[in-house]
Order: sequence, then C-alpha cells, then structure tokens
Amino acid sequence: MMRFPLYVLFGLWLQLPVSGSLVHAQSTSTPQERFSFAFLTDIHLQPERRAPIGFQMAIDKVNELNPDFVISGGDQVYDVMRGNQTRADSLFSLYVEMCKGFNMPIYHTVGNHDLFAIYPESPETEGHPDYKLGMFERYLGRPYYSFGHKGWHFIVLNSLDVTEEKRYKASVDQAQIEWLKEDLAKLDGTTPVVVVTHIPLVTARGIVTGNPAGNSVTNSAEIISLFEDHNLKLILQGHIHWKEHGQVNDRFQYLTGGSIAGNGWKGRRHDTKEGFVLLHVEGDDFRWEYIDHGWEADRLRFGVEE
Ligand SMILES: [Fe+2]
Repeated sequence: MMRFPLYVLFGLWLQLPVSGSLVHAQSTSTPQERFSFAFLTDIHLQPERRAPIGFQMAIDKVNELNPDFVISGGDQVYDVMRGNQTRADSLFSLYVEMCKGFNMPIYHTVGNHDLFAIYPESPETEGHPDYKLGMFERYLGRPYYSFGHKGWHFIVLNSLDVTEEKRYKASVDQAQIEWLKEDLAKLDGTTPVVVVTHIPLVTARGIVTGNPAGNSVTNSAEIISLFEDHNLKLILQGHIHWKEHGQVNDRFQYLTGGSIAGNGWKGRRHDTKEGFVLLHVEGDDFRWEYIDHGWEADRLRFGVEE
C-alpha cells in the first residue's frame, strides 16, 4: 500500500477549496484589476490664443498622473467645418504632432468641429475625399470602434451627421447601430462597459438653460436601450463644455467632462474651470475627479464656442 507523508495529504486538502475558489473567480468576467484613464474633451486646438501652451499643460499633467491611456472626447481642433484645406490640414497636423507628447496611448472621438467642409460656406464639395469624416479618418482613424482594457469594454461612438441644409446634427446612424448590436452580442453581460460620445446621450443642460430639446443625441433612448442586458457603467460625453455627473437608477452613470478649451481659450465656459476627468477603476467600480491642469486664459469676453 502506498503511503503518503501527512504533510502531502494535508497540503492536498488545504489546496482544494483554494483552487476551487480560484476557478470560480476565473469563471466570472468581473475584473479584478485596478487602473486609471484620463478623459479630455473639447481641446479645440488652434495656433492662436496660446492654445498650444494650454494643451501642452494638459499633456504634461496627464503624463504626471500617468493613467493607462487617454480618451479625447471630440472637437480635437477648431475648426474644419468651413473647409479651408490648408488651414484644416495644419490644425490636424499640429494636433497629431502634439499628441506625440503623451506617454500613453490616446483614443479619439469625432466632434462637430472635426467634420471637414460640411458647412455651406465651404469651398469644397461632398465629393472631396476629406469631406465630413474623411479628414478625421485620415489623421485619427475610425470614427467609431471599441476596445478592451483589463476586463472593461470601451465603445467610442460617432454621434454626428450632416443635415440636408448642411449643418451638423446629433444622431447615431443606422449602420452604426447595427455595428453596436454586433459588438455587444460578443460581450458577456457582466463585462463593465463605458460608452464615449461627443454629443451627450444624457444631460440636464437643456432643462437648466430652457432648451429641453437641445444638447443631446436625438436617438439617445434607442442607443441606451441596446445596453439593457449589459453592464453599462458609464457614458462619457463632451460638446457642451459642461461639467455634469448623474446616476440613472441602479443602471449607469453619465459624466460630461468640462473642456480643455473653456470658452474657445478665452476663459471659463459656464463657470467651469478648464480641465479634464481622471477616472480610477477598481474591479467593477470606478470613481472620478476633475483635474485642473493650471491653465488660465486671457480673460477676453467674446462669443462662445461649442
Ligand atoms: Fe466643443
């Protein structure tokens, strides 16, 4: 009869419940890691108004905080809607060049000011290869996509289209909705999901300012309903240069991330300090803080930019 030393038997007995619980932990997709990422929105980069100095201050602050990655929420440049090719190329070139200063990857969202030549006053036509999304795609890549990071799933949406009157409109088109359904179908229902959109899906701004129909994506309800069987944790938003946070029932939170540019680099917009959001993820949960990167504008009071 084979004899085992007592410590071997005891060791086996001791390992059983431990390995059992490990197997259990691995069978669920609940992430166990902790990480941080930065959400910068509405950078409105331009050579004027000391904007490159202000953006460089934001880049330096992000590098100091050292998150895993950065997401830019749209309106990277100001602006290309009126379609001057030389000016538009110089803005995107400046932006891409400056982004090389980040010590970590950066993901981009398309904003209204990033849409090339869509306005009626543009000398370019719809046949131009850079028209609408073409220039964004050439410099920054796909206008909508998803990626995973340490057990979390990030979905970056394009919330913009163009009307027949040649103005931008806030909606998510049908082709993208079909893509979104397919993307979500591949996900485990417990995987935490973050959605990023330039135009807000949810905001109280319209209520606060007396324009209830404005400031959000027209088919928001349809988009949000697609997440019913998923673990939607957070919607990150830009466009309105408005700092806002909300919790919708026990379902999800939304966060509108202020802006880097404030009022077109001329001062605060809506009395919100120029800055960005730093998100700290731990397991299935997150917390956030608004970071002032120290920029102070020349406080000129002119028109507003969104
Ligand atoms: Fe903006």
